[in-house]
Amino acid sequence: MNKALKEILFTEEQIKDRVKELGIEITHDYMDRDLFMVGILKGSFIFMADLIREINLPVLIDFMSVTSYGRSATSSGEVKILKDLDFSVEGRDVLIVEDIIDTGYTLEYIQKMFITRGARSVRFATFLDKNEARKVDIKVDYRGYFVPNDFIVGYGLDYSEEYRNLPYVAALKEEVYSK
Ligand code: PRP
Repeated sequence: MNKALKEILFTEEQIKDRVKELGIEITHDYMDRDLFMVGILKGSFIFMADLIREINLPVLIDFMSVTSYGRSATSSGEVKILKDLDFSVEGRDVLIVEDIIDTGYTLEYIQKMFITRGARSVRFATFLDKNEARKVDIKVDYRGYFVPNDFIVGYGLDYSEEYRNLPYVAALKEEVYSK
């Protein structure tokens, strides 16, 4: 194991099994809907790639890139769109795919925006849920795992753009990020 890591939380095998279960659940729930999956870059790209291959339905795929700004200065949690969707959400059943939910500000903002743009429904799938850090009330529809309030890396999640390519999920040693 990389010496910057404290512990492995979920192995590659565990993740594969859990993503398969989520795919079955989503396939069942969206049988008669118009599924439009939106991955929020960058962290979600690996979860999104694995999850869509476990969904046995026609699905439209798109990505959006956002960054939070003013989060420390205001509680508005406003996010800035760096790359918007290529397709319209109007009349579609949107499933937002995230690697992790922390405060919930990002998802709350995107959900409101998609509803304003005329989505028929907006649900959330997050691979990880750091629920102790939540600042706004968000209903998570599909969740891989709850995680503690540690610095989490791997399976798409980074620390200063490193570790996204780890095939497992791990907690970083505190001395690495508190320096
Ligand atoms: C992470 C994650 C969510 C957001 C969650 O993205 O992918 O988009 O933070 O945080 P919140 O619930 O507090 O709003 P990040 O800004 O780290 O970008 P990245 O995915 O490109 O690494």
